[in-house]
Amino acid sequence: MEFHASHADVLKQKSHCALLAVLEGGKLSAAAEALDAASGGSLQKLFKNGDLKGEVGETLVLHGAQTGAAERLLLVGFGKPEGCNPSEYRRAIDSAARALKKTGSKNVHLFCEDVQVAERDEAWKAEQACLLIAQRVQPATTLKSKKPNAAKLNDITWCGSQGEALSAARKAVKTAAALSEGMALTRELGNLPGNICTPTYLAKEAKKLAKGSKSLSAEVLDEKQMAELGMGSLLSVSAGSKEPAQLIVMHYEGAKGKPVVLVGKGITFDTGGISLKPGAGMDEMKFDMCGAASVFGVMKTLELLQAKVNVVGIVAAAENMPSGNATKPGDIVTSMSGKTIEILNTDAEGRLVLCDALSYAERFKPRAVVDIATLTGACVIALGNHASGLYSNQDELADALLAAGEYTGDRAWRMPLWDEYKKQLESNFADLANIGGREGGSITAACFLAHFTENYPWAHLDIAGTAWLSGQEKGATGRPVPLLVNYLLGNR
Ligand code: BES
Ligand code: MN
Ligand code: ZN
Repeated sequence: MEFHASHADVLKQKSHCALLAVLEGGKLSAAAEALDAASGGSLQKLFKNGDLKGEVGETLVLHGAQTGAAERLLLVGFGKPEGCNPSEYRRAIDSAARALKKTGSKNVHLFCEDVQVAERDEAWKAEQACLLIAQRVQPATTLKSKKPNAAKLNDITWCGSQGEALSAARKAVKTAAALSEGMALTRELGNLPGNICTPTYLAKEAKKLAKGSKSLSAEVLDEKQMAELGMGSLLSVSAGSKEPAQLIVMHYEGAKGKPVVLVGKGITFDTGGISLKPGAGMDEMKFDMCGAASVFGVMKTLELLQAKVNVVGIVAAAENMPSGNATKPGDIVTSMSGKTIEILNTDAEGRLVLCDALSYAERFKPRAVVDIATLTGACVIALGNHASGLYSNQDELADALLAAGEYTGDRAWRMPLWDEYKKQLESNFADLANIGGREGGSITAACFLAHFTENYPWAHLDIAGTAWLSGQEKGATGRPVPLLVNYLLGNR
């Protein structure tokens, strides 16, 4: 996919498709207005005849005489003439992308720069439009024997204003291009099945990503090295599997100074272990490494942007299986921190791999640590699939992450870490239990992690609801890569 930003005249710009903004009450964007004038009022006629209302997300594709230099026009409604809010803008663009995908267009020129979006500038509009369209039209990688056709559309041009606003939009389009590739990697890894995407596969992927890069490197710790570090908690999860656990550490060094450390949950398949999950829908537990996949996606995006930041990405990769060697309910293990854990439910395994990876993160003297995990079904019940659950022991870090989510539309919602909840994790036989009962399940999972992150500013993103979609559009979403990249770049 190629991305550009330039100033263009809609009447002269040749293209397979020109996307034009229209608004309620027959108000036209400047580009639509110009085409309307050049075609004897053909667009206004659509409003008069009731073929177009301008509502958010409404689309209409036109071919023929009135299309000017473009082979087709894609009219897109952005709602109220005085302007829309960021989520309406995103909805309109996404619906345009669906319509665009059905056309034969190989390239598209976007003429929606003058749609007013509350509290957002041209750079934001350009970045969002390019990224949303690219995400929508790129086919998911599959293992179907008949390869699906590559995306027809491979060229997106933001047609913007001039001067400084256009230079900012140009930069934003570059960010969108890098993010689009980073998210594609996150989605691809997420979608791969558990028999292919194993912990060893992820370790190889890290090496592959670092190969030939000056700023990115990767090292992998095997089970023996983890045992030497005392990672009894992490190793208790892989104990039942033939696939050895891998602790993957990637360094992206685009600047000096204390790093931000990202820690991803990389359970390549979660059967629940001896506390076996029910069968229905269990295939979706191949997505239990989406936190890890988001760390890969962020590293790739940073590398493509050659971003001036220092980031360490840690992936705790393991497969959770039942077997004669598997951990049993009631087993007690010792974590790298020295704290002992009574494993009352082997299906609460994400926190068991994360706690040792979070202790390991201390050695990088981090400015902040953010872990990303498909941690609890309870988070899906609490927030659905619109927001990731955010927990943090530092308000400044929490606010920065919330703002990054708000800006990118990859939103998070803050949840509490109160002492009252911590009580639920008390054990009669060890320092703490790995489950805290049904009530507040996402919160008690985060409280468990909080026991291991007292020595640095820390945030936890529970992405169980946001990392993938179920049903007809089943597949990884690439979230929360936009949130994380925006936070790291401080781009708001
Ligand atoms: N990977 C799951 C969480 C999950 C479940 C994410 C369903 C998305 C959809 C996690 O390892 C898990 O099994 N959590 C348990 C915790 C419980 C045993 C305390 C859960 O949420 O049921
Ligand atoms: Mn589980
Ligand atoms: Zn899990």
